[in-house]
Amino acid sequence: MISSRHFALIPAAGIGVRMGTQQPKQYLRIAGKPMLLHALDTFAASPAIAHVFAVVDAEDGYVEEVLSAAPHLAGRVTVLWNGGATRHESVLNGLHAMRAQVGDDDWVLVHDAARPGLTAALIDKLAQSLRGDAVGGLLALPVVDTMKRSGMNDRVEATVPRARLWAAQTPQMFRYALLRRALEQAVNVTDEASAVEALGLQPKLVEGSPRNFKVTMPHDAALAELYLKGIL
Ligand code: C5P
Repeated sequence: MISSRHFALIPAAGIGVRMGTQQPKQYLRIAGKPMLLHALDTFAASPAIAHVFAVVDAEDGYVEEVLSAAPHLAGRVTVLWNGGATRHESVLNGLHAMRAQVGDDDWVLVHDAARPGLTAALIDKLAQSLRGDAVGGLLALPVVDTMKRSGMNDRVEATVPRARLWAAQTPQMFRYALLRRALEQAVNVTDEASAVEALGLQPKLVEGSPRNFKVTMPHDAALAELYLKGIL
């Protein structure tokens, strides 16, 4: 049997309203380069990754400039210009567009452009942990804080036991055909794993790292910078 290859798929459409910046957040410069380029560089440098795909908005006015300043990525990265209205749609559109290059049993690692702290070691850990797995899985972090669910007016309605609670990160890694089927059937999902769970399957949780957090709010950019400059 030919062994499965690994492909990266980076949804990089949308604007990231919560950052409050004019530029879409995936192009915000962190530690000297746009966030998207951190993720592209990390995947492109990994010998485990056969090829990298990035899904951008059809009207994207930034990605070409980013890539023209990164000639080392030529031949390693393909831009797909069919981003959707939601992350879910962008990933599914990307899967359709990469169809010709990818086999049904090949692995796809879906990774947020907004997580510039991913490392080669984390990619390897995920890929190794899921070698031969029937379902696939994701990086995630065990929750350490006590969790509260709010009712009205930010008043605590319940304390949710944190035992066995994990916060999902990316990459989320599933075989091409399974992931595509899961996302085609899913409604209102915010990650790939929940679409796969809706098929009755149980993705594996692989411990990620705090440095792989998602840049969402304005103050997150400063924290990401500390990790990427090696200060943290
Ligand atoms: O906005 P949020 O932090 O949830 O975005 C997570 C990832 O999904 C980012 O990499 C963003 O570029 C991507 N995304 C997308 N298409 C959208 C919305 C978000 O590819 N319509």
